[in-house]
Amino acid sequence: MSASLTMSFLPGVLPIKIEGERLLLVDQRKLPAELCYFDATSRDQMVFAIKDMVVRGAPSIGVAAAFGLAFEARRLASAAKHEEQGQLPHAQAFLNEFSLAAEELNQTRPTAVNLVWATRRMAKVVEAAFASGLSCAETASQAYLEAEAILSEHLSANLAISQYGSELVPSGARLITHCNAGGLAACGYGTALGVIRAAHFDRKNISVYVDETRPRNQGAKLTMWELAQDQVPSTLICDSMSGHLMSKGQIDMVITGADRIALNGDSANKIGTYNLAVLAHYHKVPFYIAAPLSTFDSNLVDGKTIPIEERDQGEVLTIYGAPTTVPGAQAFNPGFDVTPAQLISGIITEVGVLRPDYVDSIAEALLQSAKK
Ligand code: MRU
Repeated sequence: MSASLTMSFLPGVLPIKIEGERLLLVDQRKLPAELCYFDATSRDQMVFAIKDMVVRGAPSIGVAAAFGLAFEARRLASAAKHEEQGQLPHAQAFLNEFSLAAEELNQTRPTAVNLVWATRRMAKVVEAAFASGLSCAETASQAYLEAEAILSEHLSANLAISQYGSELVPSGARLITHCNAGGLAACGYGTALGVIRAAHFDRKNISVYVDETRPRNQGAKLTMWELAQDQVPSTLICDSMSGHLMSKGQIDMVITGADRIALNGDSANKIGTYNLAVLAHYHKVPFYIAAPLSTFDSNLVDGKTIPIEERDQGEVLTIYGAPTTVPGAQAFNPGFDVTPAQLISGIITEVGVLRPDYVDSIAEALLQSAKK
């Protein structure tokens, strides 16, 4: 681990805030113009918030869904108190409704595996609580504790990723990142942006080119905003400019997050990541992914069957509400692409930097974390 990391390396903004009985999310659609919160206390509001990208970024989606289910469990426990005679036994009714809520959340964004990872974890806790004879209210308390544990594990995972990653960043490095893999996306320190922030606080004198990341502009809106908070020297570029920079020898490292990583290392991330990886390979620039182990999908041997979310055409046909093209035009809008493992120099996780052959290094990392 990096010993030189200074105390000023603090978590960035957290995408979620609990205020008494209210579950609030930073409304990432509004940044950087406005830092405001969206009330996602009810199940419907949380489903909407994930779909509409009030909260986005694979790990943050997982954490938000976990808290959404914890709040749903509270609601179900309070409804159980008022149930009338002759209805389904409380635990069964609770479980049925809880599973429906989890399923509804799972459908919101299909590529980020952290979502299903988090809802499965919440379901396991609820099932175990009932199996051990706890009441609905006690089960809801267990669910809330699990959501808190998921959040706190993300914070420590991000910190470890940032520290391992900073060691890989050469002094004076000029980096490129794509989309937003900061505190907003991953909770607290960030993954790819956590590495960049840690390298900055390690006084490595780095600078960052930020892809604007059409169509939603997460780079321009969120990554530039997060880097500005920490005064990391950063320059916004259009997604098409990275090849030019690499051809001029002006990039030393590429680092991005991931939404789902298969067991052979193939990694899905925001559309355009694959382009960057191919360019980096051609120009012999190291290309790194930074992601927690919750982003690995142990059901997938490779990236061929990673579901790719296709989003509304309107995101391509307009920019900040204004049309970009002729009326009636068609657009294609896949949200993610898959970078083949052979283009990835290393995957930075909370248990260290995984290197090819990924089949072995990923299996070892997952085994190590399962033993804990
Ligand atoms: O569509 P988004 O904004 O949710 O996509 C986010 C990304 O692709 C991130 O790079 C990824 O989720 C990793 S976030 C630590």
